[in-house]
This record gives sequence, structure tokens and C-alpha cells, in this order.
Amino acid sequence: MKYPKEYLDEIKTRLKVSTVVSKTIKLKKRGKEFVGLSPFKTEKTPSFTVNDEKEFYHCFSTSEHGNIFDFVMKTQNLRFGEAVKMLSNLAGMQPYTFSKQDEERENKWQLYKSICKSFSEFYKNELFTNEKSIKAKNYLKDRGLSGIEVKNFNLGFVTEDIDYYEKLEKDFDEEIIKETGLFYFDEKRKKYISRFRNRIIFPINNISSNVIGFGGRILDENKNLAKYINSPETPFFKKGSNLYNLDKARKLSNKLDDVYLVEGYMDVIGLSKSGIENAVANLGTALTSKQIQILNQFYNHIIICFDGDQSGYKAALRAAENIIDELKPDKKISFLLLEDNLDPDNFVNKFGKDKFLDFSNKSSIPIYKFILEHYLNQTNENPSSKAIFEKKLREIASNIKDNFVRKYTLEYFLEKISELTPNINNKYSKNFKSFPKSLAKTKSYYNETKSLKSYEIKEFSFLYILLTKPDLISQNLRIIENVKLYSDENKQLYEEILSHSNNLSNQDFQKLDVDKNLINRVMNYASVKHIISKNFDDDEKILEIFIEIIQDLKNYELEHRISDLESKFSKDLSEDTFNQLKELKKLQKIN
Ligand code: UTP
Ligand code: MN
Repeated sequence: MKYPKEYLDEIKTRLKVSTVVSKTIKLKKRGKEFVGLSPFKTEKTPSFTVNDEKEFYHCFSTSEHGNIFDFVMKTQNLRFGEAVKMLSNLAGMQPYTFSKQDEERENKWQLYKSICKSFSEFYKNELFTNEKSIKAKNYLKDRGLSGIEVKNFNLGFVTEDIDYYEKLEKDFDEEIIKETGLFYFDEKRKKYISRFRNRIIFPINNISSNVIGFGGRILDENKNLAKYINSPETPFFKKGSNLYNLDKARKLSNKLDDVYLVEGYMDVIGLSKSGIENAVANLGTALTSKQIQILNQFYNHIIICFDGDQSGYKAALRAAENIIDELKPDKKISFLLLEDNLDPDNFVNKFGKDKFLDFSNKSSIPIYKFILEHYLNQTNENPSSKAIFEKKLREIASNIKDNFVRKYTLEYFLEKISELTPNINNKYSKNFKSFPKSLAKTKSYYNETKSLKSYEIKEFSFLYILLTKPDLISQNLRIIENVKLYSDENKQLYEEILSHSNNLSNQDFQKLDVDKNLINRVMNYASVKHIISKNFDDDEKILEIFIEIIQDLKNYELEHRISDLESKFSKDLSEDTFNQLKELKKLQKIN
């Protein structure tokens, strides 16, 4: 739900940034601004400033910057909606109510939430106090769980003889109780039955720690009953968009870089017991890209650690293929493969936290390597088998959404593929590999530039001058009129530079809203960079070079159009095409 701008502005008008910030940090007035110790870093001298007039804060030591909403989101780990609710309350405003449907859903949600909460609390209490829970208690004890974990994760036991539906019925309508999925209707007995009866329950929270569903485990192995069952999908419990323990794990993302993604409730709890609290589990279904996106909001590195058995391996592979499409340059996904049928819970119980972390550091492998090795193991000497291998890997790489990750993943795969064809004289062939080691750096540079098109490198030079001499170009804007770039990435950067400031002057390319790799490429591969830095203060010389580059770019464009027309002419042999072609060739000569 999107808040209208006026409502947000009203909050901002009522609350000064300094008012909000000083709830967390001690501020001192200094001129027009306030200063204090940064909440984002441990420091002795204040580098954090607040400017009420401009409605922002800025932290000089971490470059964190933003308004009141950003501030509470970052310091209190809230989502935007939660920050708005909190601040509107602080500002003495009514919570915003959305349209009639929104309102209905909101009302339903309030009821749903309180049913789940009371169910969870009731059966947590039952676990501790009802003597019928003794078996469940012993079971948990036998699995090495103490009261601390049980309380921390709010585990409960659904004792059989209590009809909780009857209790709920007094306060809630049948329809909403039904919607929680906690009960199902038994046609024979004509009554609602508790889905989780005789099971230990694991409440599943949404990101704001409201219970939205449950997992339930039986105590004794039983061929006729599933070991675990989970709440069905409900309007407020979508398995593919939630993760077990995310509400707690996300709070550690200030301190930790990576998060463990495991299969089971007990894995999360076992890890937590050993002091590894940055763990979440997917909810008994296949891992989705959505879940990865959610985790990436908090963590840069996701380590997927499924069970060390065949089904865990299969699930891991399926997950890898499902989510590699989402890989981003600044995010990492790795796999940690356990052996001997151990799952993360068994592993930490057996070997302890340090061994687990050590194993994780040494043995987790990046997603593309995991995929590659899996398919490589499936491949034999048979040419068809190799063909399947290559096709499969190319297909996987081609689905990656981010241009750069796609390109470099394909590059990585192709290098391995070429090892299967040592006799084919391609650029990865043996001769090339036998270069002395000292050339490694040149080699990788060579490799990368080799895959760039010549016009792309020209474009880098053009962008390089735009980025490093913005003032000079802004005084001569006319010369960049009608300049067209061809490579998609460069086009994107060029558009961002143009839109960022009307006249280019005083621009700071650190602030451009583009993938930093786009800029890094320009900085690395622009062939003019040495000549520009040598003549940095000689504006006339630089302009001259710049104009030359533009001329080249225009010629590329011409060449491109000519070759298009040539192939058209070879097909239609029409006089019209021929004349156009003649015109273009004339132009090319003049240039
Ligand atoms: P596991 O069978 O590996 O669970 O299934 P576990 O946590 O290791 O089990 P125990 O308690 O230690 O023996 C992993 C996850 O798969 C889902 C559950 O979410 C479980 O936590 N699952 C498993 C089901 O949904 N249904 C099942 O019958 C089994
Ligand atoms: Mn397991």
C-alpha cells in the first residue's frame, strides 16, 4: 500500500529531523546544524550531522544519508510502512487508512493476527503446564533443547483433548477462524478439528514478528502421518514470500555479512542454540526468487546449507537453478554441502559452532561453481553428453537478468567448456593457457578487453571524458548533440549522466544512480585515460581528442547503417536502397 505524499509530508512538517534523531543520539547544536556520534559506527569524534532546514541527516564517516523515515528504518531495522506508522504516531497523527478494501483487509488482518497469537500463546503455555505435554517436553529435552530455546522460539504442544475452536468461537466469526488454516472441518463428526493436534508447533512469524502460520512435528515416527505439516497458504501466509526466523535474523544484519538459509525449523533452532543466530529456513516448499530478494534486502551473502542427503542435494540444485537468475553484482549466493546425511542441526550438535563456521568458511562454494560442478559430474566422454553439458550451461547463464553477471557467468562456464574441447583452436585453447604465470594479469585484461567490441571501447573513452571533465564539456554542450551510443550498458550510463544534471557542471559521478561497475568499466578500459591524465589541464587538447572520439562514434554508426543497407540491398536489389546506400557512402568519405 502506497502512502500519499501529502500524508508523508505532513509527518515531516510536524517532526524535525533533530527531534527524531535525538530520541536515539545525543545531539549538540553547531551553527545551523546539529552534530553527534554516528549510530552507524563506533566513533569518538562526532561525524554525524543533522540539518532541520534541509530535512536530512548525513554521516561523514559512513556516507549514510537520508530523511526521518530512512533514519528510523536504518537504526531500528523497520520497513517503510512500519517507520511511517511509528513516526505518524510520534507526530500525534491518526494512522493512515487506505481505501475501503484496504480497510477490510486491515480489519481481517487484525483478527487473523490475534487468533494466531492467542493460539500460539495458549499452546506454549500448554507445553509448560499441562501434564499431557510431558512426552513432548521429554522429546524436546532429548533433542538437546532447553527452556531457553523453547521460549525463544515460542514452541508449543497442541494437546489433544482441548477444543480450542470452541474457545475462539466465542470471540471470532467462523469465517475468519477458518481462514487461519488452524482447523479443518470434519464432515463425519460435523465439527472443526485442530490441524496440529498432538504436534509440537513452531510459530512462523512475518518480518514484523506477528505469528502468521505454524509448522508442526509429530513426536513418534509414524508411517501414516507426515513428520511435519505446515499451515496451508492463507491470505496472510504465503510460503514463497516468508522465511522462518527472518524477523530475528534480519536484526543481526547490522553486524554480520552473511545469513544461513537452511531447510528445517530444527536447523534454525539448533544453530541458534550454538550461537549462530543468522539463520532462516524456507517453509517446506521450494526456494523462490522472492525469498532471495527479501533476504538480499538485509544480507549481501546468502549461504544455502541444506541437508547432507540426496534429497537435500536435489533441493539445493533446484534452488540454485531457480535463483541464479536473480544474481546481482554486489550480492553473493553460496552453497555449503554437508556430508554423511548430516543436516545443519546434527552438524552443530556434533561438532560445535567453531567447526561449523570453519567448515563454512573453507567449503562454501559460489552458486555458479556449484551448478558447473554438478553438470560436469554428469558429463562423460560421449560427444552427446558434452553437447548437453554445454547447452545446459549456456541456457542457465542466458537467463541471468543482470547484464554483467550474465556475461561473466557465461565467460566462466565457457572457459570450463573449452577444457572439454582441447583440440579446437579457440581463444581458450591450450596454447593460450601455456602463457607464463607472470602474464596472468595481462591475460585477464586481454581476455576482458577482447570480448569488448571496438565501438564499446570508443564509447568508454567518450564517457571517460564526460565523467572526468564535466565542466569543460558543459561549456561545449553543442558537440555532444546527436551522439548515439550502441552498447546497452554505456547507453544507460550516458542517459544517467545527462539526466543527472542539466548542464553537466559540478556533477559528482559517485552520486550517479547506476551500477558502479558501469563506471568502473569506463575507468578501466577507456583507452584515452593516459593521454587525458597527461594533458589534464590542457582543455584545448582534450576537446580536440573528444571531438575526434565523437567523429569515430559517428563513423561507427554510419558503418552500421551501411552494413544494414548492404544486406538489405543484397536481398531486394531495389534502386531506392541503392541510392540510400550511395548517400551514406558519400557521407562516410567526407568524414
Ligand atoms: P527434515 O525432515 O530435514 O526436518 O525436513 P528436520 O528439521 O531435519 O527434522 P527433524 O525434526 O530434525 O527430524 C526439513 C523441513 O522440510 C519440511 C519442514 O519444514 C522441515 O523442517 N518438511 C519435512 C515438511 O514440510 N513435511 C515433512 O513431512 C517433512
Ligand atoms: Mn533435516
